[in-house]
Amino acid sequence: MNDVIVVASGKGGTGKSTVCVGLAVALVKQNKRVLLIDCDCGMRGIDLMLDVEEEILFDCSDVICGNCKPRDAVYPSKNLNELHIMAAPFDTDNEISPSVFKQMTDELKTDYDYVIIDSPAGLGSGFATAAAPADRALIVTNAEPTGLRGAIKIKTRLKSLGINDIRLIINRFDRKQFEENDCYEDLDEVVDVAGVRLIALIPYDGRLSAMFQNGYAGLNWSPAVTVFDCLAKRIDGAKVPLAYKG
Ligand SMILES: Nc1ncnc2c1ncn2[C@@H]1O[C@H](COP(=O)(O)OP(=O)(O)OP(=O)(O)O)[C@@H](O)[C@H]1O
Ligand SMILES: [Mg+2]
Repeated sequence: MNDVIVVASGKGGTGKSTVCVGLAVALVKQNKRVLLIDCDCGMRGIDLMLDVEEEILFDCSDVICGNCKPRDAVYPSKNLNELHIMAAPFDTDNEISPSVFKQMTDELKTDYDYVIIDSPAGLGSGFATAAAPADRALIVTNAEPTGLRGAIKIKTRLKSLGINDIRLIINRFDRKQFEENDCYEDLDEVVDVAGVRLIALIPYDGRLSAMFQNGYAGLNWSPAVTVFDCLAKRIDGAKVPLAYKG
């Protein structure tokens, strides 16, 4: 299958990295071979979320600079060996060109069912690099006007890059807050404003932060994990209803 999926948002802090890790773990639980590439150069976090920061000798900029081969920069995550990770560089001294990043990803993707790419916030060159190898995109937003503005902008950019298979994830949803904000009539209006088909609605779930900021060590059941399991099935083409409808 070798599908490459970029996770993007426009606005920062909407939950891209959280979705990347949650989806990657859920796909592995469904026996898929998954590589998660952190392309948030200068602000990497996936290594911390999956507790491999001490193991990483090479990151993706080492591959690009020729310091190592692509597979030398791939590490198994500590708590789930079948999930493989490539870290972003700590600094952004050497900007990674979209075509070189695509070439590297194309070489690696033959080993995997899914390659998931975490992208930086914003519409800049870092985003263009992260999106270059992608066949599909997931846009992560919150159900708020600022998040949706970012979602619309990133959708336009993705289309200009030739990526038309785009689905929406509304993250950190809290019904009480949504009603207090009073910005939209209902979730259908949020999806209409974004102009992208919804693939998952993820509730606000305080346990997610706790799990992910602790290297995913204590992963147990939580409402958001159920949604990730369902999202993984939907990504894989199964016709299953949304796990959470708000
Ligand atoms: N559904 C959720 N419920 C509760 N907290 C969440 C949820 N999703 C994400 N978070 C928390 O929100 C914060 C931002 O999430 P995350 O780092 O995944 O966003 P991001 O889009 O990757 O940010 P950046 O643009 O800086 O890369 C984190 O503390 C994360 O644990
Ligand atoms: Mg992030």
